[in-house]
Amino acid sequence: MCGIVGYVGRGEALPFLLEGLRRLEYRGYDSAGVAVYHDGEMRLTKTAGRLEALERKLVEHPSAGTVGIGHTRWATHGRPTEENAHPHTDCRGTLAAVHNGIIENFAELRRRLSAAGHVFRSETDTEVLCHLVEEAYAGDLAAAVRRAARELVGSYAAAFLSLAEPHRLVAIRQDSPLVVGLGEGENYLASDIPAILARTRRAVILEDRQVAVVRADGVEVTDLEGRVLGLQVFQVPWDLAQAEKGGLPTFMLKEIREQPRVLRETLRGRIEGERVVLGELEPLLAGVRKLHLVACGTAYHAGLVGKQLIEGLARLPVEVDYSSEFRYRNPILEPGTLCVAVSQSGETADTLAALREARRQGLPTLAVTNVVGSTLDREAARVLHTRAGPEIAVASTKAYTTQLAVMTLLALHLAQARGTLPAAQAAELVRSMVDLPSWADRVLDGEEAAAQVGRVLAAHRDVFFIGRGLDHALAMEGQLKLKEISYIHAEAYAAGELKHGPLALIEEGVPVVALATQPDLAEKLASNVQEVRARGGRIYAVAREGDERLANLADQTMLLPAAPAPLMPILGAIPLQLVAYHAALQRGCDVDKPRNLAKSVTVE
Ligand code: AGP
Repeated sequence: MCGIVGYVGRGEALPFLLEGLRRLEYRGYDSAGVAVYHDGEMRLTKTAGRLEALERKLVEHPSAGTVGIGHTRWATHGRPTEENAHPHTDCRGTLAAVHNGIIENFAELRRRLSAAGHVFRSETDTEVLCHLVEEAYAGDLAAAVRRAARELVGSYAAAFLSLAEPHRLVAIRQDSPLVVGLGEGENYLASDIPAILARTRRAVILEDRQVAVVRADGVEVTDLEGRVLGLQVFQVPWDLAQAEKGGLPTFMLKEIREQPRVLRETLRGRIEGERVVLGELEPLLAGVRKLHLVACGTAYHAGLVGKQLIEGLARLPVEVDYSSEFRYRNPILEPGTLCVAVSQSGETADTLAALREARRQGLPTLAVTNVVGSTLDREAARVLHTRAGPEIAVASTKAYTTQLAVMTLLALHLAQARGTLPAAQAAELVRSMVDLPSWADRVLDGEEAAAQVGRVLAAHRDVFFIGRGLDHALAMEGQLKLKEISYIHAEAYAAGELKHGPLALIEEGVPVVALATQPDLAEKLASNVQEVRARGGRIYAVAREGDERLANLADQTMLLPAAPAPLMPILGAIPLQLVAYHAALQRGCDVDKPRNLAKSVTVE
């Protein structure tokens, strides 16, 4: 999983390539490189390490030129070394390529090309692209790329720059995202929209098996047979400020604080008086007897909350699978089952594969995604967008709470359609959703209490999260957030399970974050908290205002407004994000770019 950029125009290529790569670093950041064409030569500059290292190298050896490609890498094949950094070249060094994705048959292709005399210089799968295109070239780069593509198995978004045709870039995509930005006298290529936003808001989103020829004065898109296709120009609804930090030290903090606004956005137009209106879903839901949710990581945790809400409010059975497990466990998919794929990026390879498997088995599909134009968005039969805006920090925050908002809307919509709740109760819940943004604002006012807990946890090696019902799903998200950005070992348990084993781990001073946002379960949770305290554990509680039961037992309490129980996971997520954030800051971690992780996992 990597980020790629390209530039062709009248200006210098390098400033765009570097600014674009900077905005794509969330896709990977273990090595970087650029290739720039100037005056009959192609200059390649690459380094292991982060983009700063590349920038330093370019200061020492500047690369002038008006055509170029660039890459920020997250290693899949081959270690993150300079040799394996992109761009890669063909045998003669006259063709350079950058690539995001995985060429699954690269070993076989490499063997064949090596036997034919091609010389490989890296351990990457990407390099086969260069040699394949070199082999296929007969005077037309786009035709050579199309020909080479016939041999490829796997996923790729790739851009090529050739000395033989230096005033154009050729790009292709299959199962990895790629956009062409349209400027005035210059055009751009990028893996994702934030990379082009400083230059243009007009873009063409390439579809699978399409090839783009990008010149300074125009763009042409063809299919794999070379037939010219009409350009579908997309006006990007985000501006650059929305994709940047807004004056805060990190994207994560900015994104945490945006939650009231993006929750409002996500609800906009979906509540009319006392009813949830999800016009997007008609008539998809008619005849649905079961839902099967597929997702990864944080999105999976949103699915766990969704399951409890849909089962509890709409009385429809719901299964939730990790996308990466779904395909391989041969799930029983009965007629009447709706597959719901949840993904912030809409590009997570496992989730796309799960969606395709569900489609293959004839299931209707619904995507819940944040990225308009993403692969998931385009492949699912229906889509509910989460409207969180670009999420740049690797740790998902606002995308998660907007996913929960969509899950709640879906549960209430189904409940109202099926008449499974007393009308007055349903209406009351729907009306209360309108207050979510202002409740979220109040939770953010309590940041200092969460920051204090975070700073305390920063000194520990292990942290436990416990909760019951919806709070168990929330505990799962709390532990993931803490572990991914602060590198503290964290585990979540259904509070009632503690006594069946994990309690053995509790000793003097071990921190336990106890979630008590569900009034019906608070009493039971208090008993579990007592069990922890009796063994010397320290309790950091998240509880509703006015519910003193847990506060009296806790070493410290983070209070939430007393909203209706189904809405509490949305509010409860915020202090957990802040706890993780401040623990990570205290430990000096790179909050936005945690080690070993990338924002969008486009490999299986
Ligand atoms: C969340 O903080 C993660 N970094 C990660 O678990 C993420 O939620 C997962 O990779 C799924 O991504 P998606 O929502 O873009 O599909």
